This record gives sequence, C-alpha cells and structure tokens, in this order.
Amino acid sequence: VRIDWNKEQAEKDGYAHYMEKEIYEQPRALRNTMTGRIDEAGQKVVFPDLQLPAETIRSIEKIYIVACGTAYHAGLIGKHVIESLARIPVEVDVASEFRYRRPLFGPNTLTIAVSQSGETADTLAAMREAKRNGSVVLAITNVVGSSIAREADEVITTNAGPEIAVASTKAYTSQLIAFYLWGMYLAQEKAALAPAEIASLIQSLQQLPGQVEDILAHAQQLRQFAEAIKDERHLFFIGRGIDHAVSMEGSLKLKEISYIHSEAYAAGELKHGTLALIEEGTRVVALSTQDALHEKMISNITEVKARGANVLGITHEDHVDLHRSVDDVCLIPKTDALFTPVLAVIPLQLIAYYTSVVLGNDVDRPRNLAKSVTVE
Ligand code: G6P
Repeated sequence: VRIDWNKEQAEKDGYAHYMEKEIYEQPRALRNTMTGRIDEAGQKVVFPDLQLPAETIRSIEKIYIVACGTAYHAGLIGKHVIESLARIPVEVDVASEFRYRRPLFGPNTLTIAVSQSGETADTLAAMREAKRNGSVVLAITNVVGSSIAREADEVITTNAGPEIAVASTKAYTSQLIAFYLWGMYLAQEKAALAPAEIASLIQSLQQLPGQVEDILAHAQQLRQFAEAIKDERHLFFIGRGIDHAVSMEGSLKLKEISYIHSEAYAAGELKHGTLALIEEGTRVVALSTQDALHEKMISNITEVKARGANVLGITHEDHVDLHRSVDDVCLIPKTDALFTPVLAVIPLQLIAYYTSVVLGNDVDRPRNLAKSVTVE
C-alpha cells in the first residue's frame, strides 16, 4: 500500500484544515469535558479532583474571571451562567487590563483564569496578581501541566484534546461546558437551585453534543453565506444578553481568518451610534436564541432592515417566525436558555471557516497571529 499523505495531512484526519477537523471534533470534546463530572444517576455535578473545602465554596462572595481572546469570550458567558445559577456576582476582565486597574479583593474572592494553552503571559500575570491579593485561583485550561495549571490552586481541565488551528473552536465550546458544570456545582453546593432543577439542567447539558452533531450535518448551507460575504468590507453581528457575548466570538473568528472587519454589537445599543453605518446591502448576522428577548430582537432587526441591511438570523426551532423579519434564517436546536451559546457559535465558526477557505487564506495560520502568546 502506498500512502501519499504527508504527516500533516495524516494528522488532519482527511479534513482540509486543522480548524475544520477541530470544529467537527466538538461533539467528542464536549462529551470529554463532561466525563467524570456528573454522578451516575445524572443528578449531581461532581469534581473529584477539586480540593476546595465545601465551606470555602459556600463562602465565595465575588468572582473575577480573567482571560484573553476567545477564552475571554468564554468568560463572558461564564459570568451569565454563574450569576444566573449560583447568584454570585462576577466580573470578567481582559487579562492584560486586570492588573492595571487595581482590582478590589475581599476575603472571599475567587479568581478564575481561563486559558486553552495555559501559557498566555497576560493571563498568568493576572492570576499571580490575584494570588498576591489572597484570592483562591481556579484555572480552566486544556493543557495539563501548563504554567497556569501548575500555579493555580485548583484546576478544571477541559479535555478537548490538542488544538492546532490558531482560531480556537473546540477549546471555546469545552470552556463553556466547564463553566456550566462549575456554575451548576456552585448552585448545588450553595443550595441556590433545587436538586430537581440541577437534574434537569444536567439532562439538557448531556444533549448538547448530539445537538452540535445535528448542526454540523447541515454545515454546507453556510458555505453559500460565505460566498455571499467574501467581498464585504465590514459586517455586524448583533444580539442581546448571552447572544451578544456569542456575537463577539463570531466576530473575532471572522476577523482572525477572513481578515474582513466586523463588529459585535449589543442589539439595543445600535441606535446610539452604529446604526449610522448601516446602508443598503450591509450584512448583519442577528442572533436571537433567548425567548425573553426575542420580541426586542425583532424590533432591532427591523431597525437595520429599514436602513437596507441584509440580515442572516440565527434562532432556534420555536422562532421560525423570524423568517418574516430577515433575509435568511439558520435554525439551531432548542436547549436551555443558558446553553444556547454552544449551539449558536457553531454556524458562526463555520461562516468564518468557509469565508477564509473561499478567500484562499491560510486558515490554520492567519497572518500576524500566534496560537499561544507568551509575551505581555
Ligand atoms: C491567542 C490565540 C487565541 C486565544 C488567545 C488566548 O491570541 O490566537 O485563539 O484565544 O491567545 O489563548 P489561551 O491559550 O490563553 O486560551
């Protein structure tokens, strides 16, 4: 047998790029993040490796999340999750800014450092600052034995497997799973949620990998959208609440590998300035996955449509009515309101990937960027 593949092609497993491979690895990565962290009955979240005494967990009064890039975007979702499930106030900081704003640490502050590589210099420095101020530090990282994992008091490994493409995909969604588990764990230990509520969340969580598979089975649809936007000079991503945080990640993905400028905007804030940039044909990707905010999103979409925008709406199956307000719709499966980011980000990753491919860019090694940034 003659094998024509070189080593790199073999490592890509038949996929054209590492990024494509890693996008498709997400169902498995998410299952791996959950493995060993849910009890056999599916009723409770467990963290067998954590040493934190129950008393310390119950006494947490404030949480800082520090991270860079995509990990920072995961942190923004983490804030929503922890605040909503465990009712503990959370602040999210870009790690390179954290030390310079003299953050306030009380006796019961927990700092969570999020980093795929576990080697990002700014995140490491932010975490050291937190430790110096007496904060307990929890790391969420993909690399066992990395600097951040070694220096943290406690570690939740994401177990997504090696990520090679510079643009992060499976590391992000597995960080989201880590935040869901951690948020549920805090809620459980503090009794902020009833056992039945935890069990129901666990059930929805366990469906996510299969739901990601369903979205990936229709990936090709987004190739057309990539063709349509490839010559654009700028795009907007809009959403409210947790959808705004996902929009930021979608916008970053597109910028990193297609080099098309885009901006993520809180949909309600557009009319305070950015609406001036919407003209005939401007492309807008609008996320509306939150039932409570859907009507408000429709009115924000109507605002951009009235100025001539061409809108792709991303929503779940209960809101097919979105068809009436946008030019195209991408439907994702329905899940718990807090878990929609794991599903909504998949089409955004695919849009960025296909756009980079149709433009003939170096998808896995975009210009000026590095996988791991070890300078401050
Ligand atoms: C670099 C990568 C990004 C990543 C960021 C943080 O800029 O290109 O994809 O999100 O670093 O990396 P970390 O390893 O700390 O998650």
